[in-house]
Amino acid sequence: MVKADTQSVAQAAAYIRAGEVVAFPTETVYGLGADALNAQAVHRIFEAKGRPADNPLIVHIAALDQLDALVTDVPEAAWRLIEAFWPGPMTLILPKRDCIPDVVSAGLSTVGIRFPSHPVAQELIRRSGCPIAAPSANRSGRPSPTRASHVLEDMQGRIPMILDGGPCAVGLESSVIDVTGGTPVVLRPGGVTPEMVARAAGGVRVDEHVMKPLEAGETARSPGMKYRHYAPKAEMTIFTGAPDAVSRAIRSRYDAAPRGAAILSLEEHVAGYGARRVFSLGSLSHAQEAAGALFDLLREMDALGVERIYAEALDPHGIGLAVMNRMGRAAGFHIIEV
Ligand code: TXA
Ligand code: MG
Repeated sequence: MVKADTQSVAQAAAYIRAGEVVAFPTETVYGLGADALNAQAVHRIFEAKGRPADNPLIVHIAALDQLDALVTDVPEAAWRLIEAFWPGPMTLILPKRDCIPDVVSAGLSTVGIRFPSHPVAQELIRRSGCPIAAPSANRSGRPSPTRASHVLEDMQGRIPMILDGGPCAVGLESSVIDVTGGTPVVLRPGGVTPEMVARAAGGVRVDEHVMKPLEAGETARSPGMKYRHYAPKAEMTIFTGAPDAVSRAIRSRYDAAPRGAAILSLEEHVAGYGARRVFSLGSLSHAQEAAGALFDLLREMDALGVERIYAEALDPHGIGLAVMNRMGRAAGFHIIEV
């Protein structure tokens, strides 16, 4: 793990050019990057992560003129989103060109492209001289890393270099938006919210699986929907409803739990849980605080040996939808209405 500076980024770029895998900061979460056009290098990402081969990777660029070589078409709605939100926490699903190896796209005819805003990510891509394929830099099934120390926990000894750029500003992975068919479809909510997409592109749909699990036999529109990502070791239950009723339900579940229980609460409700073990997600009026804190808290609770998590739901609007999607998946969508 090295502090990201001109010298270390140059060295990381040399690793990428040599077909190696390095971890680097972005504004969303840390990424595990390799040359996107080198199939062998990309295979190393799957090995380091322990990732299933049918889950495709996002290709990162640092200039709009890299786009043409990677995709066959950029529809009108995609251009509007690009103008509004790139560089930034948004991935667009577009029809891919043949130069993108199958291992990147998991055999799909489309590819996810993102232009990150983080200066270290941009400098790394520019110095590498190639687009960089990168999933989140966690071992498969663990919460995404929002600090270099999280990457170290998961990747120590598996990759030659981790660039430390401090904590990630957004704290949740990018919004994944399918723009291949007219109205943009949000496949994974993130920092670019459905409300923002609708305003920029004139319309939006949110895939129903953002807030419910796939049924047996259903095909995922985005392969990542199939997997229980963001999984803490603890069993997690989310409570939704009027704040008083939610607090009451959580207190009684907690008090009846055998041991190792913890509460994930909005800051304004923390005092109501008295001496119970509570972790604050931040203020209910600033869902960005919860976005920034969630993955760090899930890792902390794992490290403390928490076995049961009782969590307050957030209002699923704006970035609150992204937080609820990650919490829902961490809980296997075990959500109780009180
Ligand atoms: O913020 C982010 O997006 C981070 C940073 C490093 O950029 N990356 C990230 O990658 O979260 P990953 O691999 O953990 O998540 C990529 C998601 C997966 O759910 C995958 O299934 C979906 O994007 N995806 C990738 N390509 C796709 C495609 N062609 N069609 C539909 N979904 C796709
Ligand atoms: Mg991931």
